[in-house]
Amino acid sequence: MLELIFLSIIIFLLLILSWVWPPNSPWAPWWRTNRKTARAICKLAEISKNDIVYDLGCGDGTFIITAAKEFKAEAIGVEIDPSRFLISKIRICLNNLSSKVKIKRKSFFNEDLSQATVVVIYLVPKTLEKLLPKFKKELKKGTRIISYKYKINLRLEKEDKKNNLRLYVI
Ligand SMILES: C[S@@+](CC[C@H](N)C(=O)[O-])C[C@H]1O[C@@H](n2cnc3c(N)ncnc32)[C@H](O)[C@@H]1O
Repeated sequence: MLELIFLSIIIFLLLILSWVWPPNSPWAPWWRTNRKTARAICKLAEISKNDIVYDLGCGDGTFIITAAKEFKAEAIGVEIDPSRFLISKIRICLNNLSSKVKIKRKSFFNEDLSQATVVVIYLVPKTLEKLLPKFKKELKKGTRIISYKYKINLRLEKEDKKNNLRLYVI
């Protein structure tokens, strides 16, 4: 009985900790984009079958699945955390999307982004700052970047205030 109480306290503390952990850490909490916001991203970026969409730190894969399934884009998710990578992989298979959605378990800092037409990010400002030189170096002119919640130091093109989304164009 005592062990069970002890275990419950540990789980409770881990849960509390997960809420304050920075979302760019591999031990980050399950901060995620829900399907409604994923659809709002696709609409703001006008995603279509002609797009190659990257989600940098794709979490459980909700965005890449929505972009491919509902907006017919080719989607690529990059995720460093093995558990989230596995969940995304399973969800992609269950949705029969393996031909349209790819997922890579690696750091997005080591991914070549030159083929992207849209890049989606839900990361803390410190990480966005580090990604900016990579965006400027690798992304083609005209590539759309959508940032959820946090600003990037680029000229803002469009904003969806209701969903806390910002669109930038390289
Ligand atoms: C706030 S979550 C967003 C998840 C997903 N994009 C969404 O909106 O639902 C940030 C994600 O980035 C991942 N991540 C953080 N640093 C990373 C890195 N260097 N390379 C790849 N993934 C990373 C984390 O594991 C986490 O899943």
